Amino acid sequence: MADYADVHRRSLSDPEGFWGEQAALVSWFHKPTRVLDADSPPFFRWFSDGRLNTCYNALDRHVIAGRGDQTALIYDSPVTGTTESFTYATLLQDVAAFAGALRDLGVGQGDRVVIYMPMVPEAVVAMLACARLGAVHSVVFGGFAANELAVRIDDAQPRVVVSASCGIEPSRVVEYKPLLDRALELADHEPASCVVLQRPQAEATLVEGRDLDWATAMRAGRTNPAPCAEVAATDPLYILYTSGTTGRPKGILRDNGGHAVALAWSMRNIYDIEAGQVWWTASDVGWVVGHSYIVYGPLIAGATTVLYEGKPVGTPDAGAFWRVVADHRVEALFTAPTAIRAIKKEDPEGILVAAHDTTSLRHLFLAGERLDPGTYEWAGRILGVPVVDHWWQTETGWAVVANLRGLDPMPTRPGSPSVPVPGFDVQVLLPDGSVAGPNQEGSLALRLPLPPGTLQTLWHDDARYVSSYLAAFDGYYLSGDGGYVDDDGYVYVMGRTDDVINVAGHRLSTGAIEGVLAGHPAVAECAVIGAADALKGQVPRGLVVLKAGVDPTGVAAELVAAVRDQIGPVAAFKDVEIVAGLPKTRSGKILRRTMRQLADGEHPTVPSTIEDPSVLTALEPILRRE
Ligand code: COA
Ligand code: AMP
Repeated sequence: MADYADVHRRSLSDPEGFWGEQAALVSWFHKPTRVLDADSPPFFRWFSDGRLNTCYNALDRHVIAGRGDQTALIYDSPVTGTTESFTYATLLQDVAAFAGALRDLGVGQGDRVVIYMPMVPEAVVAMLACARLGAVHSVVFGGFAANELAVRIDDAQPRVVVSASCGIEPSRVVEYKPLLDRALELADHEPASCVVLQRPQAEATLVEGRDLDWATAMRAGRTNPAPCAEVAATDPLYILYTSGTTGRPKGILRDNGGHAVALAWSMRNIYDIEAGQVWWTASDVGWVVGHSYIVYGPLIAGATTVLYEGKPVGTPDAGAFWRVVADHRVEALFTAPTAIRAIKKEDPEGILVAAHDTTSLRHLFLAGERLDPGTYEWAGRILGVPVVDHWWQTETGWAVVANLRGLDPMPTRPGSPSVPVPGFDVQVLLPDGSVAGPNQEGSLALRLPLPPGTLQTLWHDDARYVSSYLAAFDGYYLSGDGGYVDDDGYVYVMGRTDDVINVAGHRLSTGAIEGVLAGHPAVAECAVIGAADALKGQVPRGLVVLKAGVDPTGVAAELVAAVRDQIGPVAAFKDVEIVAGLPKTRSGKILRRTMRQLADGEHPTVPSTIEDPSVLTALEPILRRE
């Protein structure tokens, strides 16, 4: 096995040589001769004269290589009582048919397709069908409300929206189609067509002339399936919206070539997964973890990927994950620490682990939020396999800091996701832009150029890409996380330094929630903070000041309902308090960080710029819930 330090050093000293070699991990219609295009900094492009197709790499090439009968995808759905397997050959047939259907609806190269679907195989088929056509998909997580979907539809301007009649949560059937219809009423942009997968749990009413049933589209597509379009490595594969500090989401733009190479490299070197092995990411296709490691990464690697429509607990119990591992002989599981905390809460002794044969499992990978040492230790003890924390973001598309299991493995350490991944030059910067010393906390920043697979820019907004990520420190990408590096080079991630919060591994903007609260006629001003939560990592907590003379009765409940209605249940916004005032600096900036620290039981230093310290003093017992 290659030595980590050698590989990392080479990736930074000779990025063109390093990534030029890794390009051989994917199949090209035209092999790139140019590895890094640095002609227009701060915009960098990888493999700019290469031509390929991501769907070809995920499906066709495995079938051509004679592995068409191998299982590509296992759909395991405890909420519907279904398990279904797709070989590479059958998945390719479905994808080519749906690509044909999309083409017949007028979708061509570069056109956008919004996908708003639950965790069903058709969501994967739709994504790959877009890739096949060279169209650009934008998957919107099902837990978002109509308004959030509308914002994304207006930004991406899709020709087609693909959806389903419903998703199934343990407690209820969530009808997606009324949410889609409402989103299309709210949006200015009108897609030409919607394709709707009818599920028996709640059939949707279709709009004549606009909506098409999935089954009908597939029947037509099967008679005239679509071949792979040849696209430039730098052409976009997808837009994935993520929360920034304002209410307006950021459309992260991913290319085809760099993405395919980076994910292929990561499957082998970070996750130690090869073709034919069974891999399971328990997340959702609506998040970057789902894009990279439910769909593209494992399929490009020729592995078998498990698509799980269920929860860690309650479907039916806290042994669900171990049942899936045992049933499908899963070799590596990737999920968020929250999921493990939920299991630990219900089965603290790990009795349900012992009830299943989990001997196939070699690694548990965790990411999406901070991995607390208690969860790390518990999971390692009950599973008896290495627990591998790794740090990354929607923007980076794959891990920035990890313990690379396919290289000569190094020890894991509680509290640290380990070391910078080859290709990433991770630095801790102080406010004046100087590089911090060992163990000194600062902003986690990545020296440009970022490696293949990372964001190219924001969709249609180069200026916002530069101002959000590149303006703070010349020559660096600002991650938005703070942290430090210890004497041995292990990186410690201490959390966001901006107004982004992380609720059960879901990234949310406090600004977006504040926008909803501020829209209520009774609210004069408001603040939302992410308070520590034993299960979800963080939960949003709202503090509102009402307009003078307003009757407060019922306002808190209306605010909770408004956030659920306008952002979605995923915001898990249940906690709002009416207060007399909010602490601010003399320039009017609300002291959210100080409030969060008080809520978390810390003893923050109050900024000297505070306008009226008595406001904070009055709020302290409320924040501390004394
Ligand atoms: N469609 C519609 N609603 C959804 C949804 C979806 N795809 N996903 C979640 N929701 C709803 C839930 O039903 C819940 O609604 P409720 O308020 O009526 O109960 C709400 O959104 C919050 O959901 P969730 O954050 O999942 O909380 P939970 O209390 O239902 O479950 C966990 C807690 C820990 C079990 C759950 O968060 C989990 O499995 N987390 C794993 C994290 C993960 O996959 N992260 C992705 C990044 S790696
Ligand atoms: P997302 O873009 O939704 O993947 O969220 C990215 C954010 O989640 C990061 O900026 C971090 O704040 C947090 N995060 C992800 N992985 C980790 C990790 N392993 N440790 C600590 N924080 C993490």
